[in-house]
Amino acid sequence: MRHFLSTQDWSRDELDALLAQAAAFKRTPAGTQLAGKSIALLFFNPSMRTRTSFELGAFQLGGHAIVLQPGKDAWPIEFELGAVMDGEAEEHVAEVARVLSRYVDLIGVRAFPKFRDWSVDREDRVIQAFARHARVPVINMETITHPMQELAHILALQQHFGTSDLRGRKYVLTWTYHPRPLNTAVANSALQIATRYGMDVTLLCPTPEYLLDARYMEHARRNVAAHGGSLSISHDPQAAYRGAHVVYAKSWGALAYFGRWEQEQPIRDAHRHFIVDEAKMALTDHGVFSHCLPLRRNVKATDAVMDAASCIAIDEAENRLHVQKAVMASLAAQPRGAA
Ligand code: CP
Repeated sequence: MRHFLSTQDWSRDELDALLAQAAAFKRTPAGTQLAGKSIALLFFNPSMRTRTSFELGAFQLGGHAIVLQPGKDAWPIEFELGAVMDGEAEEHVAEVARVLSRYVDLIGVRAFPKFRDWSVDREDRVIQAFARHARVPVINMETITHPMQELAHILALQQHFGTSDLRGRKYVLTWTYHPRPLNTAVANSALQIATRYGMDVTLLCPTPEYLLDARYMEHARRNVAAHGGSLSISHDPQAAYRGAHVVYAKSWGALAYFGRWEQEQPIRDAHRHFIVDEAKMALTDHGVFSHCLPLRRNVKATDAVMDAASCIAIDEAENRLHVQKAVMASLAAQPRGAA
């Protein structure tokens, strides 16, 4: 039984097939692939796009989605094996995942890092526990990567450039300012998928302390070796933007200061000028801009950048619906495992 936890677990041919199916759903939204089937969507963190597009996507394919917010409208869950459960949690993931597997055909999980200890958060324990205990496919709705955003992003680029072949495009993944340290998930994902599709990728960030986890840097290097393109690192916005075809922005907290955020704040605040603005976009080669959203205007990117014809963030957000339908249809077509 396949889960959808990371695009790195899926071959390029399989990802291409999902993108082709997503493009087909974009042309013809209605289908019966989930007729009589259901998905439980577990949100440990807030969402606008993910929740709306998964619920709607299940409906458009004839299925049914049930949203649960553990600790809010569902019981708080324990994830440690062998835990003496005398704290807040009322039940263990071992029961939650197996019970849900008796009810539904798919389980989606959104669980962000706790932002205290990266050595713990990088193990992605919540979704890994669901994948271990569930008897139905589990879908990553954003944990320490965001694979659905990856597919939506690539589909938006392919449709903007009018070709599925993105090789030779100069791609800049730029850190941008935000007043709080944010998850590295979308940055990890952008690095993975841009290199997977053979682009010439520059990771632009304020200092070496903002480099991404070694696991994702290594995935990117392996992707370059397998799919061509290149990977470089820059701390110079003017040099990185020059000649770019794609600018993808995200803010994230420096892993070097994980859990000691008061020490990171002055560094972050000193790099407010990483905001994506018209002057930087003018250095690109008619470059397109995108962001996963939500986005704080005039903090991460200016109004002018967001409102320009070259901003494809809304197309990317729309594509979340289409790619998620493709993934749900693909996973639901598998034979059910024994519960
Ligand atoms: N991009 C994204 O996942 O949006 P939400 O957090 O609103 O779901």
